[in-house]
Amino acid sequence: MRLGGWVHRRRDLGGIVFLDLRDRDGLVQVALGPGWAAPDLVSRAQTVGTETVVLVEGEVTARPPAMRNAELATGDVEVHATVLEIVGPAETPAIPVARGKGEELPAEELRLKYRHLDLRRPELQANLILRHRLLQRARRALSELDFLEIETPILSKPTPEGARDYLVPSRVHPGEFYALPQSPQIYKQLLMVSGFDRYFQIARCFRDEDLRYDRQPEFSQIDIEASFVGQEDVMGFVETVLVALWDEAGHRIGRPFPRLTWREAMERFGTDKPDLRFEFTIADWTAQVRPLAVPFFQGALTNGARVRGIAVKGGGTLSRKDVDQLAETAKTHGAPGLAWVKRQGEQVSGSVGKHFTAEALGRLGVGDGDVALMTVGPDRVTSPALDKVRQEVIRRLAPAPKSAHAFCWVVDFPLFEPDPETGKPVFAHHPFTAPHPEDVRKLDTDPFACRALHYDAVYNGNELGSGSIRITDPAIQRKVFAHLGLSPADVDARFGFLLTALAAGAPPHGGFAVGFDRTAMLLAGAGSLRDVIAFPKTTAARALFEGAPAPARTEDLAALHIKVVPPHE
Ligand code: AMO
Repeated sequence: MRLGGWVHRRRDLGGIVFLDLRDRDGLVQVALGPGWAAPDLVSRAQTVGTETVVLVEGEVTARPPAMRNAELATGDVEVHATVLEIVGPAETPAIPVARGKGEELPAEELRLKYRHLDLRRPELQANLILRHRLLQRARRALSELDFLEIETPILSKPTPEGARDYLVPSRVHPGEFYALPQSPQIYKQLLMVSGFDRYFQIARCFRDEDLRYDRQPEFSQIDIEASFVGQEDVMGFVETVLVALWDEAGHRIGRPFPRLTWREAMERFGTDKPDLRFEFTIADWTAQVRPLAVPFFQGALTNGARVRGIAVKGGGTLSRKDVDQLAETAKTHGAPGLAWVKRQGEQVSGSVGKHFTAEALGRLGVGDGDVALMTVGPDRVTSPALDKVRQEVIRRLAPAPKSAHAFCWVVDFPLFEPDPETGKPVFAHHPFTAPHPEDVRKLDTDPFACRALHYDAVYNGNELGSGSIRITDPAIQRKVFAHLGLSPADVDARFGFLLTALAAGAPPHGGFAVGFDRTAMLLAGAGSLRDVIAFPKTTAARALFEGAPAPARTEDLAALHIKVVPPHE
């Protein structure tokens, strides 16, 4: 048999040299010893460095029983090599590829700098192989549903999705710029107007925004759009795709996914991406707590503020230090603090314990061995604080999940949300999302009360994707732009082509985009998007391997009629 691969490890055992040869399918042990390999071959093998590429010829032989390795797919055999060719010598690797049990990975910065080596790690190979399989499966599932794969431009016009644009200067039109698409949103709507009915694309999107473990400046979406459909139809298509993707990764999941309105999600979980694997929910205790005259709450209970809290089953095992740290979490997220009451039998203790009886706690659903965690304030403060407290409690208590895969749909989002700084309306999804038919009239009278035909798919507390039914009436589209503060002239300059298309016979249509990298990350069990993207950027939006971004050459800037003004010190 003939094999090619990288030398993962070399061991020299009294005259026999063992090379673990690695390729994308895994490892196989190659042995060179007296008896079958020529002496000069054995001595050559003794000097071959790790990560060198070799070609080997030899015979597959059963290993002696004591030498078998149950952890390796090929652990029962080895190749007795009679030929060893060094076809790709390797310098000493800048970072090791092989790792001993429990050995830490090199720092991520180094791994990204030497990505060609990092990508040789079996974990990353497995992630990218899974990613490939998921992509093929998504394509197949959508083709079977009669969706057409259509590519849309990368050099395009700004598509607002809430981030800044990456701009590309035009050389032939000095002073003019293309924008890289934040999503193919407008193009896919235009395809519906043109009669393509069902479109999909594995779309590359570019967003200049603050990055986190689950955000990259360029990422991929499984982007779909369909005509003559309502919200339920689109959600059905998305469920078909997600069930197929989870199946590809070896998980059987049920459908339809449960639904929550945005209002319910915010009320019970404090977030629009609730993790439904766990029981704990947020409750409104204002009515029960107000008569107790607890000083911590009393001053704040004005102007629509509420006392909200979580009855933590089994929370009695949380230490004082745990509770103090939870209070810090609440404060970091804007709450005035976290009041707590612990119940043990008839005994009640805690920061506001003296105001409660066991019976009063029972009425809040706080039983023996439980803890009540509470805070006070307007919902915009208590929701995010209690969401984070809930997540932290789950992390600390590690209760058994109700299910390993908890999907849900969050529907009926508000159309607009207030800008945290100015209070002016900004779009909650994107400006092409249709208002809820029951709320269209509120567009004129009370835009913040207007719900949208906007739905998110949430999985174990992660937003997998978003979608909506679109506005097809140009007058409503103009009204929405006006609420967002765009003048009619702005609208014509930026979105005139869409409005013209909508007035040319637009079918009702809607769609969705699944964040594909995020999905691959969750299915691979990876901790960051960087572990499922071949050449990712750092959180500072740098590509360390190829060294981008980098200053442009003076002559290139001149050809583009661009002058760089250095930032002020
Ligand atoms: P949205 O902006 O919600 O919707 O994006 C859809 C999904 O894409 C993923 N995502 C990201 N993944 C990695 N890095 C990022 N920076 C990033 N930003 C978003 C998320 C998100 O849920 N045009 C609409 C869809 C539609 O209405 O059809 C859109 O792009 O998982």
